[in-house]
Amino acid sequence: MINIEIKPTEIFKKNYLSNAQILINRGGAGSSKSYSIAQLLTIIFLQAEQVKILALRKSSAYIQHSLDEVFKEVFDQFGIRHLITENKTKRFFKYNKNIIQLSSVDDPEKYKSSKWNYIWFEETTEFSFHEFKTIALRNRAQSLPNRPNQIIFTFNPTSELSWIKTMIIDSNKYDYKEINSSYKDNPYLEEFYINSLIALEQQDINFYRIYTLGEWGILENIVYNNWQIIDDLPKDNNSDVFYGLDFGYNNPSSLVKLSSIDSNIYASVLIYESKLTNIDLIEKMNQLIPNKNHPIYADSAEPQRIEEIHRDGFNIHPADKSVKDGIDFVKRQTLKIHKESLNLIKELQTYSYRKNKLGQVIDEPIKFNDHALDALRYGIFSHLIKKYEPNITWITL
Ligand SMILES: Nc1ncnc2c1ncn2[C@@H]1O[C@H](COP(=O)(O)OP(=O)(O)OP(=O)(O)O)[C@@H](O)[C@H]1O
Ligand SMILES: [Mg+2]
Repeated sequence: MINIEIKPTEIFKKNYLSNAQILINRGGAGSSKSYSIAQLLTIIFLQAEQVKILALRKSSAYIQHSLDEVFKEVFDQFGIRHLITENKTKRFFKYNKNIIQLSSVDDPEKYKSSKWNYIWFEETTEFSFHEFKTIALRNRAQSLPNRPNQIIFTFNPTSELSWIKTMIIDSNKYDYKEINSSYKDNPYLEEFYINSLIALEQQDINFYRIYTLGEWGILENIVYNNWQIIDDLPKDNNSDVFYGLDFGYNNPSSLVKLSSIDSNIYASVLIYESKLTNIDLIEKMNQLIPNKNHPIYADSAEPQRIEEIHRDGFNIHPADKSVKDGIDFVKRQTLKIHKESLNLIKELQTYSYRKNKLGQVIDEPIKFNDHALDALRYGIFSHLIKKYEPNITWITL
């Protein structure tokens, strides 16, 4: 018998107590959706005699930094990590006869060969209705004695036109329970994060609805559409390598490696981490930047931190921080983002222009989830703009 001490939020309890066929967790940012579902599924995983749990993301690139991390965080919180067998290549966790399989739509072999008691669609808005229906057919394992088989959704309500609303909630064809949440449901959130969510009200009312209140909205006026995800980065041999650096403390510090080859810019995130002092940051930079001659463009609002990094031998410069010009310049590039740079991809997907109180779009982005993006812009704009500046030589007659 394992004794587990669990610190649940109300969101956990509501999910735990429902026997509906589909648990629809719609919520604002940081409302404890993912963590609560990982807790719930872990408890079932430990208690059942034989259970098969499938946890899905749309793309396999996202699994490691989302599903894999959240389950491991919960295993650690429960103090049970040592009891669980992990298969890293096949991406599953095993405990006695029970399994939690992590998978994605682009890797169907892993889930198609089996029937499941629980299927969790993490970030459900990324999936299509067709994908949902096809995969949901596999929710047919022999059910547990005390709980029905279930499908679980967790997502931010970024489009009221989503099939989740039109085909499931509004259709009345499914047995579902809606569990709506916001930051107020998560007592474990840090204060600075709560403040940044509250501050969204002054920036953009639609964003505020989606990310602060967890109400249906429409994510529109996306800033960047000029990017693609790539599996592998090219070798650095002939490329122009440079870096962008955004300082944070409560918010993450972010270091993005950039290289310019044949009119493409390749980007990968090397650091995205909160609570780093400048000493921690310099230590990490020494491990991650092999050639200290490559230029780094950093947030010019922190000259002291730049000076310290410079004294450690890095070729660091204050970045040109012009937001509008910088964004316009970055928009004209072709960006190739490495698939493991999930934080940057997440920021790119949601970074939007503001709307003013009259509902007019203004030439200013919403300042939220923009740390890797700031680093990206500092690097690209400061480094590459030089190439486009006319080189004028004055000739005196
Ligand atoms: N029961 C809990 N005990 C301890 N920490 C928790 C608990 N629930 C949530 N947290 C912490 O709160 C933070 C936000 O939770 P989580 O990531 O689950 O939110 P979310 O609703 O999935 O947010 P998003 O919409 O951004 O995906 C995480 O850092 C998580 O570790
Ligand atoms: Mg989440």
